[in-house]
Amino acid sequence: MTEADAGATPIRPLVAGNWKMNGLKAALSEALAVDEALAEAGAGVAADVMICPPATMVMVLAELSGMGGLKVGGQDCHINAAGAHTGDVAAEMLADAGASAVIVGHSERRADHGETDRIVHQKVLAAHRAGLTAIVCVGETIGQRQAGLTLDVVARQLAGSIPDNVTAETVVVAYEPVWAIGTGLTPRPEDVAEVHLMIRERLCARFGAEGAGMRILYGGSVKPSNAVELMGIANVNGALVGGASLSAKDFLGIIEAYRD
Ligand code: PGA
Repeated sequence: MTEADAGATPIRPLVAGNWKMNGLKAALSEALAVDEALAEAGAGVAADVMICPPATMVMVLAELSGMGGLKVGGQDCHINAAGAHTGDVAAEMLADAGASAVIVGHSERRADHGETDRIVHQKVLAAHRAGLTAIVCVGETIGQRQAGLTLDVVARQLAGSIPDNVTAETVVVAYEPVWAIGTGLTPRPEDVAEVHLMIRERLCARFGAEGAGMRILYGGSVKPSNAVELMGIANVNGALVGGASLSAKDFLGIIEAYRD
């Protein structure tokens, strides 16, 4: 457990792996190795651990894992519960398959599929309708950072993407600078601290004690070699991990940051 910097609320961190469009059946062994390692470590890992595989693997992973408490999440959901939306996945389907959470508003969805804050907001509502925790992604582009717009952009995304009446159980925020995703680049610790503090203040102002207890993950080129430093920053309550979550060894190396 770590203490929320804004108060005495204990926040259990979350380390979530986002496999993106990677992972055939053979990759299941990596996820199951993570679950086995968690089972061996027991209470020695002071964090929740989740893998968000492609939709094709949510059900099989949810059915085969869990021994060590590994949670399973989706990577996106449609705003509707069912209907004529070829190729889309409903939050209800993810829940039915065994997911407990879903990532919404990832920058790749915002860029590749034109998802606006309004759409992300509706996806959070869809996740909640299905009983899933929504992992809401926000983050600036390199141009926005260089123009000094980071705090404004992230504050606007936060306000527009998160609906009213959410709780620390139903929403997790992931701050992911777009320029740090998959590039090997990470912001300076003081820059991460500045954004996470702003997010914490906004969440507290809007949601009170629930905002104080909400998890704020950092994402963007998290790896075993930088996890301890990044996870040690004030108001960083875990990580959203892309590339390094595809290998059990690397993902467990990141989870090490939360070994007692
Ligand atoms: P990365 O991706 O860890 O490969 O940079 C993070 C993410 O997009 O969630």
